[in-house]
Amino acid sequence: MSHAHPRISKAVIPAAGLGTRFLPATKATPKEMLPVVDKPAIQYVVEEAVSAGLEDVLMVTGRNKRPLEDHFDRNYELESALASKGDADRLAKVQESSDLAMIHYVRQGDPRGLGHAVLCAAPHVGDEPFAVLLGDDLIDPRDPLLQRMVEVQETYGGSVIALMEVAPEQIHLYGCAAVAPTGDSDVVQVTGLVEKPDAADAPSNYAIIGRYVLDPHIFEILRTTRPGRGNEIQLTDALQQLVQADESAGAEGGPVHGVVFKGRRYDTGDRGDYLRAIVRLACEREDLGPDFRTWLQRYVAEEM
Ligand code: UTP
Repeated sequence: MSHAHPRISKAVIPAAGLGTRFLPATKATPKEMLPVVDKPAIQYVVEEAVSAGLEDVLMVTGRNKRPLEDHFDRNYELESALASKGDADRLAKVQESSDLAMIHYVRQGDPRGLGHAVLCAAPHVGDEPFAVLLGDDLIDPRDPLLQRMVEVQETYGGSVIALMEVAPEQIHLYGCAAVAPTGDSDVVQVTGLVEKPDAADAPSNYAIIGRYVLDPHIFEILRTTRPGRGNEIQLTDALQQLVQADESAGAEGGPVHGVVFKGRRYDTGDRGDYLRAIVRLACEREDLGPDFRTWLQRYVAEEM
């Protein structure tokens, strides 16, 4: 039974997508390396995993994996240059990312979809429930989501996805969940899933966002999941099979629950959301915020 599994300790971060929405910036650099203020987006994601207690991180990388690996590795040349200048603050910033977590890498080869990226994690994950954090999806550190999802998985077993209510005209950009209430106000039972539906066919306005806590049974399903929307192997399709199998036969890996997230979230793979993330996070920074806010207010008042 899923309930008997040990505490979740592994996080999988898929970062092998093509990032076509962000070309040409992503031609030679993974989109997960784009800076959000002064840290690459993926560092926020690894920090989130660590603060939820997941210190074993597997990154699924693609063609341009070097910058990702180098970012989480030591850089002795830079470190010794900063040390010899006595620049302790910047030295600490450089060392922070290499000291964060135990990071492992697996290569996806062809980017055949998120479901396929998750399947590449199977040998590392083994037979334990595990978390998946999309490397281009930022959850504001002040609105913790993953901890709650881990708790919900421990209580309900099976698999847990993160949901956010969006406007009906936005739902075609997301996976969408049909849901039923549970005794917990922020938790719903997922009764059906569909990837990027047209607004008219969407069963709800609950969009799937980039955090998952999955039962390892998902790997078996992913091995036989056919390419779906966009000719990609979709994680949503595999989860839909899990929902159906659970409803008909109480199969392993289910049920699937959703945690409804009401906090701040940014899709840094989308140019508009990326800009909003930078402005918002910069405004709130103690070091940069005061000057930046003053400039922004003036800019909005005088030039917009
Ligand atoms: P996206 O749906 O944003 O796709 O992937 P994408 O290809 O990266 O970006 P666009 O749409 O072309 O701009 C969601 C997450 O899944 C990863 C991505 O790196 C991203 O973190 N992913 C996607 C993979 O790791 N492998 C894939 O084959 C597809």
